[in-house]
Amino acid sequence: MSEKIFAVAGKPVLHSQSPFLFQAFFRALNIDASYTRISASSAEEALQAANAIKLTGMSVTSPLKVSMVNQLDRIDSHADHINAVNTIVLKNNRWRGYNTDYKGVIQALKFNEINLNGCKVIILGAGGAAWAAAYGMKMLKARKITIVNRTIDKAKSLASRLDCDFAPLKTLSRHIEEADVLISCIPVPLNELDVSIIRKNLIFMEANYKNSHSGQEIKKGEDGFRKVSGLDWLFFQAVPAFRFFTGLRIPNEIQKDIHTIFRTRKVPQKPHIALIGFMGVGKTAVGRILAKEMGYEFVDTDLTIEQQSGLIIPEIFELRGEKSFRKQEALVVQKTFQGSQPKVVSLGGGAVMDERTCAVVRENCDIIWLWASVRTLINRINLGTRPLLKSSDPVKKAENLLAVRRPFYARLGDLVINTEQETAKDVVRRIKDEMD
Ligand code: S3P
Repeated sequence: MSEKIFAVAGKPVLHSQSPFLFQAFFRALNIDASYTRISASSAEEALQAANAIKLTGMSVTSPLKVSMVNQLDRIDSHADHINAVNTIVLKNNRWRGYNTDYKGVIQALKFNEINLNGCKVIILGAGGAAWAAAYGMKMLKARKITIVNRTIDKAKSLASRLDCDFAPLKTLSRHIEEADVLISCIPVPLNELDVSIIRKNLIFMEANYKNSHSGQEIKKGEDGFRKVSGLDWLFFQAVPAFRFFTGLRIPNEIQKDIHTIFRTRKVPQKPHIALIGFMGVGKTAVGRILAKEMGYEFVDTDLTIEQQSGLIIPEIFELRGEKSFRKQEALVVQKTFQGSQPKVVSLGGGAVMDERTCAVVRENCDIIWLWASVRTLINRINLGTRPLLKSSDPVKKAENLLAVRRPFYARLGDLVINTEQETAKDVVRRIKDEMD
């Protein structure tokens, strides 16, 4: 099982399509690595999680791109100019930051055969993605770049740093009248705001790609303007990010194939939610509340096994052995997804070691990996109920077991939530926020 783990951190982040891309790159180049998502509200929190889970590299998304800059040991000169990072890599125990968003925006426009030389560009928003877009537009020699933002001070500071113009949001439609290109870098899709402001012949591109997979994308030509998909931007920033992560180039043919699949695929909707993670992370407590609040059925594989066998888990281990327990555990998981009622399923900590279990859980569930440090876990657990930690040194035993399982959790988890300092209710709120 692979040792290298990567992730994208942000909030919200469950919608991120980066895992699909990087997993496809890893598969195509035969690299043994996984890529998941970390829900984090601050750059500090994201780095803490990255260090705890022992990530090799991390993509950084909204709202952490700017605040992450100050948390790093080094940043490269482009990221320094842009004042935002979207890719960080651990080298010799130090985090280095890079920005590939500006390359993504340039390459996405080139791919769509759009030449910006002498064009007037509006950038809507003033966060990390907007900084990168403005920097990229400078490189492409746009004639005039105007940063339009609700908070005018933010627009002003970006504009003065990159030598652009700036304007308040209420003047957007007036600026659009004379612009050639509009790049929206705000967190909501623009068509949720007001499509009518987009005029004929405008080239429109947005960082938000939420609707791009759903068929709601505004079609090229339909309203007289041309839309460059945010998915193209995402794809073309991921290619150089992959190089920072691995040192490897993705051959053109492979890039092309993955890009085509990425642009056209439908994101699968999963009917159930699974909670995975080591003993003591709070899967049962969180699962119970989550199921109740969502009106889902709650299934705890350990409880089901205990009910079925009339024995408690330590007795099953003692009388029948771990192998028999695992067999029963796998059967319980296989049966759980029969029937139509949506479920929250809390999986025993070792269930992820079974291939068939992983396959059926992946197919049916959004999978949340709950995380906590071994010290915290040991404090939470009643050790008498966990036969696998029976030892004179349960901390060491847990550390060793977690080291073996960590890559399995990383491979299966769609989203990591650090439960270290959170109550079960806090964790539920976070999961629900992400699902929304
Ligand atoms: C186990 C975890 C326990 C239980 C059994 C084995 C494991 O469940 O299934 O003790 O292998 O990690 P929890 O993770 O719910 O504590």
